[in-house]
Amino acid sequence: MLTITPTNAALGAEILGVDLSRDLADTTFNEIVAAFHEYEVVYFRNQTLRPEQHIAFSRRFGELEKHVRVDCCRPGYPELFVVSNVIENGKAIGSRDAGLFWHSDLCYMKEPSRGSLFYAREVPMKDGEPLGDTLFASATAAYEALPSSMKTKIAKLKAVNSYSKGYYRDRNSGARAPLTEDQKRRTPDIEHPIVRTHPFTGKKCLFVNEGYTSRIAALDGEEGESLLTELLAHATDERFIYRHRWQVGDFLIWDNCSTQHLAIPDYALPQRRLMERTTVRGSAPF
Ligand code: OGA
Ligand code: MN
Repeated sequence: MLTITPTNAALGAEILGVDLSRDLADTTFNEIVAAFHEYEVVYFRNQTLRPEQHIAFSRRFGELEKHVRVDCCRPGYPELFVVSNVIENGKAIGSRDAGLFWHSDLCYMKEPSRGSLFYAREVPMKDGEPLGDTLFASATAAYEALPSSMKTKIAKLKAVNSYSKGYYRDRNSGARAPLTEDQKRRTPDIEHPIVRTHPFTGKKCLFVNEGYTSRIAALDGEEGESLLTELLAHATDERFIYRHRWQVGDFLIWDNCSTQHLAIPDYALPQRRLMERTTVRGSAPF
Protein backbone atom coordinates (compact mmCIF):
# COMPACT_ATOMS: atom_id res chain seq x y z
CA MET A 1 0.00 0.00 0.00
CA LEU A 2 1.21 3.45 -0.89
CA THR A 3 0.91 6.43 1.37
CA ILE A 4 -0.18 9.46 -0.59
CA THR A 5 0.06 12.94 0.93
CA PRO A 6 -1.52 15.68 -1.19
CA THR A 7 0.05 19.13 -1.09
CA ASN A 8 -2.02 22.10 0.06
CA ALA A 9 -2.13 23.37 -3.52
CA ALA A 10 -4.52 22.71 -6.41
CA LEU A 11 -2.34 19.84 -7.57
CA GLY A 12 0.53 17.65 -6.41
CA ALA A 13 1.04 14.81 -3.95
CA GLU A 14 3.94 13.04 -2.31
CA ILE A 15 4.02 9.26 -2.58
CA LEU A 16 5.79 7.52 0.31
CA GLY A 17 7.00 3.99 0.77
CA VAL A 18 8.23 3.26 -2.75
CA ASP A 19 11.77 2.45 -3.87
CA LEU A 20 11.77 3.16 -7.58
CA SER A 21 15.01 1.28 -8.14
CA ARG A 22 13.10 -1.97 -7.51
CA ASP A 23 11.08 -3.90 -10.00
CA LEU A 24 7.63 -2.80 -8.76
CA ALA A 25 4.60 -5.09 -8.80
CA ASP A 26 1.88 -4.17 -11.29
CA THR A 27 -0.52 -3.39 -8.46
CA THR A 28 1.92 -0.86 -7.02
CA PHE A 29 2.59 0.63 -10.42
CA ASN A 30 -1.14 0.94 -11.10
CA GLU A 31 -1.63 2.78 -7.80
CA ILE A 32 1.12 5.18 -8.80
CA VAL A 33 -0.54 5.80 -12.16
CA ALA A 34 -3.91 6.39 -10.49
CA ALA A 35 -2.34 8.93 -8.11
CA PHE A 36 -0.53 10.56 -11.02
CA HIS A 37 -3.81 11.02 -12.88
CA GLU A 38 -5.60 12.31 -9.81
CA TYR A 39 -2.92 14.71 -8.52
CA GLU A 40 -1.30 15.61 -11.88
CA VAL A 41 2.12 15.97 -10.22
CA VAL A 42 3.45 13.25 -7.91
CA TYR A 43 6.85 12.99 -6.28
CA PHE A 44 8.97 10.51 -4.35
CA ARG A 45 11.79 11.64 -2.07
CA ASN A 46 15.19 10.08 -1.41
CA GLN A 47 15.47 7.92 -4.50
CA THR A 48 18.80 6.52 -5.67
CA LEU A 49 18.61 5.62 -9.33
CA ARG A 50 21.00 4.65 -12.04
CA PRO A 51 20.09 5.93 -15.53
CA GLU A 52 18.95 2.41 -16.49
CA GLN A 53 16.53 2.33 -13.54
CA HIS A 54 15.14 5.78 -14.34
CA ILE A 55 14.58 4.67 -17.93
CA ALA A 56 13.13 1.27 -16.99
CA PHE A 57 10.57 2.78 -14.61
CA SER A 58 9.65 5.45 -17.17
CA ARG A 59 9.11 2.86 -19.90
CA ARG A 60 6.28 1.35 -17.89
CA PHE A 61 4.29 4.47 -18.78
CA GLY A 62 4.92 3.98 -22.48
CA GLU A 63 7.45 4.63 -25.18
CA LEU A 64 10.02 7.33 -24.48
CA GLU A 65 10.91 10.32 -26.60
CA LYS A 66 14.36 11.23 -27.79
CA HIS A 67 14.67 15.00 -27.60
CA VAL A 68 15.36 17.07 -30.72
CA ARG A 69 18.22 18.72 -28.80
CA VAL A 70 20.51 15.74 -29.08
CA ASP A 71 23.44 17.71 -27.62
CA CYS A 72 21.51 17.98 -24.32
CA CYS A 73 21.05 14.25 -23.77
CA ARG A 74 23.23 12.21 -21.45
CA PRO A 75 25.94 10.49 -23.52
CA GLY A 76 24.90 6.92 -24.22
CA TYR A 77 21.30 7.58 -23.08
CA PRO A 78 19.31 9.37 -25.80
CA GLU A 79 16.16 9.04 -23.62
CA LEU A 80 17.72 11.11 -20.81
CA PHE A 81 17.39 14.84 -21.38
CA VAL A 82 19.77 16.68 -19.05
CA VAL A 83 18.76 20.01 -17.51
CA SER A 84 21.81 21.55 -15.89
CA ASN A 85 23.96 24.64 -15.55
CA VAL A 86 27.09 22.51 -15.19
CA ILE A 87 29.95 23.05 -17.64
CA GLU A 88 32.45 20.27 -18.24
CA ASN A 89 35.53 20.70 -20.44
CA GLY A 90 34.18 24.05 -21.53
CA LYS A 91 30.91 22.53 -22.70
CA ALA A 92 27.41 22.59 -21.17
CA ILE A 93 26.42 19.05 -20.17
CA GLY A 94 22.72 19.72 -20.77
CA SER A 95 20.14 22.39 -21.39
CA ARG A 96 21.01 25.44 -19.31
CA ASP A 97 17.83 27.29 -20.04
CA ALA A 98 14.99 24.77 -20.03
CA GLY A 99 11.59 25.88 -18.87
CA LEU A 100 12.20 29.57 -18.28
CA PHE A 101 8.70 30.36 -19.49
CA TRP A 102 5.45 28.53 -18.77
CA HIS A 103 5.05 25.50 -21.01
CA SER A 104 4.26 21.83 -21.19
CA ASP A 105 6.74 19.45 -22.74
CA LEU A 106 6.42 18.79 -26.46
CA CYS A 107 3.15 20.74 -26.77
CA TYR A 108 4.51 21.86 -30.15
CA MET A 109 4.45 18.29 -31.48
CA LYS A 110 1.52 16.61 -33.21
CA GLU A 111 1.49 14.18 -30.31
CA PRO A 112 2.59 16.07 -27.19
CA SER A 113 4.18 14.16 -24.34
CA ARG A 114 1.97 12.32 -21.87
CA GLY A 115 4.25 13.05 -18.94
CA SER A 116 7.81 13.72 -17.86
CA LEU A 117 9.79 11.98 -15.13
CA PHE A 118 12.35 14.25 -13.54
CA TYR A 119 15.16 13.16 -11.24
CA ALA A 120 17.10 15.64 -9.09
CA ARG A 121 20.79 14.70 -8.84
CA GLU A 122 22.17 18.05 -7.70
CA VAL A 123 20.19 20.95 -6.24
CA PRO A 124 21.66 24.45 -5.80
CA MET A 125 21.61 25.66 -2.20
CA LYS A 126 21.99 28.97 -0.41
CA ASP A 127 22.12 29.31 3.38
CA GLY A 128 20.72 25.80 3.71
CA GLU A 129 17.75 26.52 1.45
CA PRO A 130 17.22 25.04 -2.02
CA LEU A 131 17.17 27.26 -5.08
CA GLY A 132 15.88 26.50 -8.56
CA ASP A 133 12.31 25.59 -7.62
CA THR A 134 9.85 24.51 -10.29
CA LEU A 135 6.28 25.82 -10.46
CA PHE A 136 3.42 23.69 -11.74
CA ALA A 137 -0.01 24.98 -12.72
CA SER A 138 -3.08 22.78 -12.97
CA ALA A 139 -4.72 23.05 -16.39
CA THR A 140 -7.82 21.26 -15.11
CA ALA A 141 -8.26 23.67 -12.18
CA ALA A 142 -7.68 26.58 -14.58
CA TYR A 143 -10.30 25.28 -16.99
CA GLU A 144 -12.86 24.63 -14.26
CA ALA A 145 -12.46 28.15 -12.86
CA LEU A 146 -13.27 29.83 -16.19
CA PRO A 147 -16.61 31.64 -16.39
CA SER A 148 -19.11 29.61 -18.40
CA SER A 149 -19.27 32.32 -21.09
CA MET A 150 -15.55 31.84 -21.68
CA LYS A 151 -15.90 28.05 -21.68
CA THR A 152 -18.49 28.39 -24.43
CA LYS A 153 -16.39 30.88 -26.38
CA ILE A 154 -13.28 28.67 -26.51
CA ALA A 155 -15.01 25.29 -26.73
CA LYS A 156 -14.27 24.79 -30.42
CA LEU A 157 -11.22 27.01 -30.87
CA LYS A 158 -7.73 25.85 -31.69
CA ALA A 159 -4.39 27.49 -31.02
CA VAL A 160 -1.10 27.34 -32.88
CA ASN A 161 1.86 25.91 -30.95
CA SER A 162 5.26 26.75 -32.28
CA TYR A 163 8.59 25.27 -31.16
CA SER A 164 10.57 28.16 -32.60
CA LYS A 165 8.62 30.67 -30.45
CA GLY A 166 9.97 29.06 -27.31
CA TYR A 167 13.34 28.09 -28.66
CA TYR A 168 14.44 31.60 -29.54
CA ARG A 169 13.17 33.57 -26.58
CA ASP A 170 15.12 32.08 -23.71
CA ARG A 171 17.39 33.78 -21.27
CA ASN A 172 20.38 32.46 -23.19
CA SER A 173 18.75 32.63 -26.59
CA GLY A 174 21.87 34.24 -28.00
CA ALA A 175 23.80 31.15 -26.91
CA ARG A 176 21.56 28.68 -28.68
CA ALA A 177 22.51 27.71 -32.18
CA PRO A 178 19.86 28.44 -34.82
CA LEU A 179 17.54 25.47 -35.37
CA THR A 180 18.94 23.04 -37.91
CA GLU A 181 16.90 22.09 -40.98
CA ASP A 182 16.31 18.67 -39.43
CA GLN A 183 15.05 20.18 -36.15
CA LYS A 184 12.76 22.52 -38.11
CA ARG A 185 11.44 19.64 -40.16
CA ARG A 186 10.61 17.75 -36.96
CA THR A 187 8.80 20.70 -35.39
CA PRO A 188 6.41 22.43 -37.81
CA ASP A 189 3.81 24.76 -36.25
CA ILE A 190 0.86 22.73 -35.08
CA GLU A 191 -2.76 23.42 -34.13
CA HIS A 192 -4.23 21.91 -30.98
CA PRO A 193 -7.62 22.38 -29.32
CA ILE A 194 -7.52 25.06 -26.63
CA VAL A 195 -9.77 22.92 -24.49
CA ARG A 196 -8.17 19.52 -24.43
CA THR A 197 -9.74 16.36 -23.01
CA HIS A 198 -7.40 14.33 -20.84
CA PRO A 199 -6.96 10.95 -22.56
CA PHE A 200 -7.07 8.98 -19.30
CA THR A 201 -9.32 10.95 -16.92
CA GLY A 202 -11.63 12.62 -19.45
CA LYS A 203 -11.20 15.93 -17.62
CA LYS A 204 -11.01 19.14 -19.60
CA CYS A 205 -7.72 21.02 -19.59
CA LEU A 206 -6.86 24.56 -20.68
CA PHE A 207 -4.13 23.73 -23.19
CA VAL A 208 -2.35 27.00 -23.97
CA ASN A 209 0.99 28.18 -22.65
CA GLU A 210 3.07 31.31 -22.75
CA GLY A 211 6.14 29.52 -24.05
CA TYR A 212 4.93 27.92 -27.23
CA THR A 213 1.36 28.99 -28.00
CA SER A 214 1.81 31.67 -30.62
CA ARG A 215 -1.75 32.54 -31.64
CA ILE A 216 -5.37 31.50 -31.76
CA ALA A 217 -6.11 29.80 -35.06
CA ALA A 218 -8.82 31.43 -37.19
CA LEU A 219 -8.86 34.54 -34.99
CA ASP A 220 -6.47 37.06 -36.45
CA GLY A 221 -5.44 40.45 -35.15
CA GLU A 222 -6.45 42.19 -31.98
CA GLU A 223 -9.29 39.87 -31.02
CA GLY A 224 -7.16 36.74 -31.10
CA GLU A 225 -4.26 38.39 -29.36
CA SER A 226 -6.27 39.73 -26.45
CA LEU A 227 -8.09 36.42 -26.00
CA LEU A 228 -4.77 34.55 -25.88
CA THR A 229 -3.29 37.06 -23.43
CA GLU A 230 -6.31 36.67 -21.17
CA LEU A 231 -6.18 32.86 -21.26
CA LEU A 232 -2.44 32.77 -20.60
CA ALA A 233 -2.74 35.04 -17.56
CA HIS A 234 -5.61 32.96 -16.21
CA ALA A 235 -3.84 29.61 -16.78
CA THR A 236 -1.03 30.43 -14.35
CA ASP A 237 -2.97 32.31 -11.70
CA GLU A 238 -1.52 31.55 -8.27
CA ARG A 239 -4.70 29.67 -7.26
CA PHE A 240 -3.69 26.87 -9.64
CA ILE A 241 -0.01 26.60 -8.70
CA TYR A 242 2.11 24.15 -6.74
CA ARG A 243 5.73 25.19 -6.13
CA HIS A 244 8.17 22.31 -5.76
CA ARG A 245 11.28 22.84 -3.64
CA TRP A 246 13.79 20.26 -4.74
CA GLN A 247 15.83 17.91 -2.61
CA VAL A 248 18.58 15.70 -3.99
CA GLY A 249 16.99 12.32 -4.75
CA ASP A 250 13.56 13.71 -5.63
CA PHE A 251 11.82 11.90 -8.45
CA LEU A 252 8.86 13.86 -9.74
CA ILE A 253 6.37 13.04 -12.48
CA TRP A 254 4.30 15.72 -14.15
CA ASP A 255 1.40 15.36 -16.55
CA ASN A 256 1.91 17.36 -19.75
CA CYS A 257 -1.81 17.50 -20.52
CA SER A 258 -3.23 18.54 -17.15
CA THR A 259 -0.34 20.77 -16.05
CA GLN A 260 2.22 23.25 -17.30
CA HIS A 261 5.46 24.23 -15.57
CA LEU A 262 8.05 26.96 -15.10
CA ALA A 263 11.66 26.85 -13.85
CA ILE A 264 12.92 29.57 -11.48
CA PRO A 265 16.50 30.57 -12.44
CA ASP A 266 17.50 32.12 -9.09
CA TYR A 267 20.92 30.42 -8.84
CA ALA A 268 24.24 30.47 -10.68
CA LEU A 269 27.56 28.61 -10.68
CA PRO A 270 29.27 27.59 -8.47
CA GLN A 271 25.79 26.55 -7.27
CA ARG A 272 25.24 23.44 -9.37
CA ARG A 273 21.91 22.11 -10.59
CA LEU A 274 21.73 18.75 -12.35
CA MET A 275 18.44 17.13 -13.28
CA GLU A 276 17.59 14.34 -15.70
CA ARG A 277 14.31 13.89 -17.51
CA THR A 278 12.63 11.15 -19.45
CA THR A 279 9.67 12.08 -21.58
CA VAL A 280 6.81 9.68 -22.25
CA ARG A 281 5.22 9.70 -25.66
CA GLY A 282 1.63 10.92 -25.76
CA SER A 283 -1.30 10.99 -28.16
CA ALA A 284 -2.87 13.61 -30.41
CA PRO A 285 -5.00 16.10 -28.44
CA PHE A 286 -8.79 16.05 -28.86
C1 OGA B 1 11.95 20.43 -18.28
C2 OGA B 1 11.76 21.69 -17.56
C3 OGA B 1 12.10 22.76 -15.43
C4 OGA B 1 13.15 22.84 -14.39
O1 OGA B 1 12.95 19.74 -18.04
O2 OGA B 1 11.07 20.08 -19.07
O3 OGA B 1 10.97 22.49 -17.97
O4 OGA B 1 12.85 23.35 -13.30
N1 OGA B 1 12.45 21.84 -16.42
O5 OGA B 1 14.27 22.43 -14.66
MN1 MN C 1 9.65 21.43 -19.49
